[in-house]
Amino acid sequence: MTGSALLPRSSGDVARREFARDVLAGLAGQCKAIPSKYLYDEHGSALFERICETPEYYVTRVETGILRDCAPEVAASAGPSCSVIEFGSGAATKTEILLDALATPSAYVCVDVCVEQLAASRARLAKRFPALPITAIAADYMRLEESSLPVFPGGRLGFFPGSTIGNLTPDEVQRFLATTRRVLGHGGMLLIGVDTVKDEAVLNAAYNDAAGVTAAFTINLLRRMNRELDGSFDPDRFRHVAFYNAELQRIEIFVESLIDQVVRVAGRAFTLRAGERIRTEYSYKYRPEQFVATAATVGYAAVGSWMDADELFCVHLLAGV
Ligand code: AVI
Repeated sequence: MTGSALLPRSSGDVARREFARDVLAGLAGQCKAIPSKYLYDEHGSALFERICETPEYYVTRVETGILRDCAPEVAASAGPSCSVIEFGSGAATKTEILLDALATPSAYVCVDVCVEQLAASRARLAKRFPALPITAIAADYMRLEESSLPVFPGGRLGFFPGSTIGNLTPDEVQRFLATTRRVLGHGGMLLIGVDTVKDEAVLNAAYNDAAGVTAAFTINLLRRMNRELDGSFDPDRFRHVAFYNAELQRIEIFVESLIDQVVRVAGRAFTLRAGERIRTEYSYKYRPEQFVATAATVGYAAVGSWMDADELFCVHLLAGV
């Protein structure tokens, strides 16, 4: 099969109902929180692409350099004709490095919740690799089943760059790794980018860029709730707060209420005190050996791990054992 296909997994109405349900549940608790996947509507996804270009956010630049260096070794281990499955593909900016290194990949499958980005990435890659079968699946990669994936010749190489794993809680990490072990099947491998524990000043700067792009990305979630869930958030009455929690090895990101206020969303009213926060993201950081040990608990062994000279970021190639 050549060409490409978009396989929507949930209709707009279902997605909206789930969004409303998650927001209402997240705002009802003592510690208010909204799942970070909702940051990525069309505008949020575009803002995230801009974050990747800020001088403070080293993640994208450093990982891209590591991938360029290690791609030939990855191709040698995975075999030249495997299919590539990218989880949470976003703008799929690093995919070409991998597809270029694999001599004759059998297919590329991108999985993401943002339909607009899926369509754009699929179109771009179809132009760049005209003979490559490309399938785009609009879905939450945490809920993928093996039956959701088309079958292509060769083994499956999962791709999860960008330290998106850092946005998952430890329980979700276990679930994600176990899911990928299952969907990648016998002989499957996973190439995964993981941000490392490092100097706190570097981490704090990366999530508080001077141009305010990260702040705009966080605050955009309020605008999305206003638009899609009939919310009444006034973005000027909130601020972005992000800091590194060294004990728990994670960046914590919030919208913080600047005043006492009542907000309405999805038909319910919530009282917020001045200084009260709604968590929008965790971004966990791992020492390389910690991550390899975590992956081992679901039956993955590291075939290779590559870091930059400053040890800012690590790319691991995992294989099922
Ligand atoms: C997508 N993810 C890995 C980013 C991170 O670094 O946790 C999301 C992000 N949020 C603010 N800046 C970047």
